[in-house]
Amino acid sequence: MASINKKKEKKIFKELVSFQQRDFCFSSGHILGSMCTQPHPIAREAYIQFLETNLGDPELCPGTKEIESRFIAFISKLLHAPKTSEGQIVSGGTEGNITAMWIAKQLSRKKEVILSENAHFSFQKIASLMNMKPIELPLTSEYIMDITKMKKEIHKGIAAVIGIAGSTELGTIDPIPELSDICSDEHIFLHVDAAFGGFVIPFLRELHYNVPQFDFKLKGVSTISIDSHKMGYSAIPLGTLMIRQKHWLESISVESPYISCEKQAGILGTRSGAPVAAAYAVTQYLGFQGYKSMVESCMNVTNYTKKRLEELGLSLVIRPTMNIVGVKLKKPGQIVKKLSEKGWRVNKVERLSCIRLVLMSQITKKIIDEFIPSLKKACEEVGEL
Ligand SMILES: Cc1ncc(COP(=O)(O)O)c(C=O)c1O
Repeated sequence: MASINKKKEKKIFKELVSFQQRDFCFSSGHILGSMCTQPHPIAREAYIQFLETNLGDPELCPGTKEIESRFIAFISKLLHAPKTSEGQIVSGGTEGNITAMWIAKQLSRKKEVILSENAHFSFQKIASLMNMKPIELPLTSEYIMDITKMKKEIHKGIAAVIGIAGSTELGTIDPIPELSDICSDEHIFLHVDAAFGGFVIPFLRELHYNVPQFDFKLKGVSTISIDSHKMGYSAIPLGTLMIRQKHWLESISVESPYISCEKQAGILGTRSGAPVAAAYAVTQYLGFQGYKSMVESCMNVTNYTKKRLEELGLSLVIRPTMNIVGVKLKKPGQIVKKLSEKGWRVNKVERLSCIRLVLMSQITKKIIDEFIPSLKKACEEVGEL
C-alpha cells in the first residue's frame, strides 16, 4: 500500500475542506429542491468499505456480486417483479431510462416514443443519443398523461410508451393501469419511470393513500426505473432498472472477451460496488416497515407544509400526490433568487409558474417553520404578497 506523506495529506485535505465548505449539504435542511438525500448513516459506512470493488468484472468480487443479487431481490419484491425478471444496476434515473429505451428500440426496431410533458428531461437526451422521436402529449388538468390523446398517437412506428410514476416537477402519477391495458393489447413496450416514486408509491398504498398501481402486477409494464439515491435513502449514484424478461438483456449485451464474464449488458463497463453495498445495507436496515415509516413521516411534513403555505395566502399547483409541493407564483425565478440569498436552495418550474419543494426525510416541521418566514419575506420583496 502506498505510504502517506502526512504533511502533503494535511495540505490537500485543508484545500478539499475549504472547497467543501462552499457546498450546501443535505444535513443543514436548507436544500428543499433536490430529489437526492442525505444518505442513511449505514449507507455511508458500507460505501467506504466497498470503495475498491468493480462490479464490471464480477469474478473479481463474487461477494459483492452476491450483495448485488440480494439487493435486486429486494427491489423485485418491492415491485412485484415476476420470476422471469432481472434487475440491471444503473447510476440513476437517467441511465435507467436510457437503458430501457435501448431495450425497447432493439426489441421493436422502431423509433417513436409516446410520453407526456411531465417526462424527465433525460428523454430528450435519449432522443438525441439514440435517434428516437418523442411524441410529447400535453397534460390533463390533473397534470398527468391524457389517455384519450395517447390512444390517438398509437401507430405502427411506436417503440415504447413512457408512464411517469412520480413526476419530477409535481410528483404526479400517470394512469399506469390504463397505459398497461393499452400497451398489452397493442403489444407495445411500456416503461414506467418511477425513479422518484418507486420508493414512495408502494408505501403510500400501504398507508391507504389513493394512488394507482404502477408496478409489475400490471401485465403491460415492461420495465421500471427506481432510484436508491432518491427516496431509497442511499448514496449517489444508484438506481435499478427492473426488466420483466431477463432475456431482453441479451438485446443490449456485447461480448466482453478480456474480463471475467463472457457478455456484458448495459452502458457502463467498470462500475463501483460501493453504492450497491450502501443501498443494500439501507434496505436491510430499514426493511419495508422502515421505508413505510419514512414515507409516512415525509407525508406528514408535506401536509404540514401545505397548511403553512396556505396560511401564508399562497396556493398550490395541485394537491400533493407524494412528498413534492408546487407553490404557484407569478415570479418563481425571482423568488428562487431571493431564497438563495437567504440560504435556501429551492427549484423553479417556469413552465408551471411555480417553485417546487421536495420534502425528503431530512426535512422536518421545524425546518419548515424556519423556511416559511424566509419565503414570506422573499414574496414581499418581489411583490408576490
Ligand atoms: C422521474 C425522474 N426520472 C429520472 C430522473 C433522472 O434521475 P438522475 O438524475 O438520477 O439520473 C429524475 C431526476 O430527478 C426524475 O425525477
